[in-house]
Amino acid sequence: MDIAIHYPLFKGWNMHKDKPFSQACENNKAPILEKLAGVFNQPGTVLEIGTGTGQHAVHFARHLPHLVWQPSDHPRNAQLCLPWLSEAALANINPPLALDVMADDWHRLPAIQGAFSANTAHIMAWEEVEAMFRGVARILPTGGRFCLYGPFHYSGQHTSESNERFDRSLRMQAEHMGIRDMQDLERLGRSAGLVLDEDFGMPANNRLLVWRKA
Ligand SMILES: C[S@@+](CC[C@H](N)C(=O)[O-])C[C@H]1O[C@@H](n2cnc3c(N)ncnc32)[C@H](O)[C@@H]1O
Repeated sequence: MDIAIHYPLFKGWNMHKDKPFSQACENNKAPILEKLAGVFNQPGTVLEIGTGTGQHAVHFARHLPHLVWQPSDHPRNAQLCLPWLSEAALANINPPLALDVMADDWHRLPAIQGAFSANTAHIMAWEEVEAMFRGVARILPTGGRFCLYGPFHYSGQHTSESNERFDRSLRMQAEHMGIRDMQDLERLGRSAGLVLDEDFGMPANNRLLVWRKA
């Protein structure tokens, strides 16, 4: 399959056995799954934003069979996950949707009960992060959860030297990228009608933040 990776900035992505591959996904999928199993414990459809390689989608759908997993990504990368999806051939993963969080077409998405996104907030420009929160808040039903995984700052402070280095390298690659502040995200969520419910510490100085639609 001819797969183009349109975001060569993502360090650590490569092609492995004809599939796009991220070692970070392999490392973090088990701890993330453990938390998602508790958060998304009822049957329903979960929209994944910025699916990337598809490793997360396959792992979570396989181990959370009560869910229907709906992958999506920016139109430029929406097909990237196809090799992982076709190899896994799971009945509870829908074909990936092209979704640019900035586009005003969230209304065409299927009904969902939850949303998940990993390692996207520091890649998107801040306006895109805002659009993602607005979009998720718009389509989540009351009580629905939005899980956001990644590295975050607290009150403008780095939580580790490795995150500080990572933040610096992101900003050197592109001005619009950078690790987001947890308090800014909390404010953003609140203004969109999302209440921060949980802040789980995860391996390698990452967090899993969980919002609930009020
Ligand atoms: C660092 S990758 C993370 C991929 C995967 N979630 C992971 O954890 O490996 C960032 C992802 O955000 C997506 N992305 C960037 N801007 C976006 C936008 N405006 N709308 C939707 N997705 C976007 C990229 O296409 C890419 O798949």
